[in-house]
Amino acid sequence: MSLRDKCPILEFKDQGDERGKLVVIEGEKSIPFAIQRVFYIYGSDATVVRGQHANRESEFVLINVAGSSKVRITDGKEEFVVELNRPMTGIYIPKMVWKDMYDFSDDSVLLVLASTHYDGNEYIRDYDAYLEEIKNG
Ligand code: TYD
Repeated sequence: MSLRDKCPILEFKDQGDERGKLVVIEGEKSIPFAIQRVFYIYGSDATVVRGQHANRESEFVLINVAGSSKVRITDGKEEFVVELNRPMTGIYIPKMVWKDMYDFSDDSVLLVLASTHYDGNEYIRDYDAYLEEIKNG
């Protein structure tokens, strides 16, 4: 399976009407996992790079609910970049995939849904160590 296939773009239904837009995301229905944690990143700009890690345990869905940002995804073999710029579009990122988020617009609000509670020990923040873990299965 290609890296792109492992990290599908998710299109959520817009249930808006004349009063405005409404997007609903339900764990294990619209995304492949039960949601244990929600966080969002804002106040970043075009000069910063965030992420720069892989997770041994966590799966994520990233959605720019306002503004835009880019996410570079790699597994050490393949790499691709996705621009997130629509509140009804997200990307699923499975375990053990390296990601960098960057090029944030000033109004960017990047919503992240996660399959785990936070545990800093399951983060791999050194790229060479990540490649080594991947190589060793
Ligand atoms: P970090 O993982 O560096 O954020 P990003 O992936 O966006 O670059 O996290 C920044 C800080 O916030 C770091 O000290 C850990 C803390 N943090 C939590 O306490 N809980 C969380 O769920 C997350 C994502 C981060």
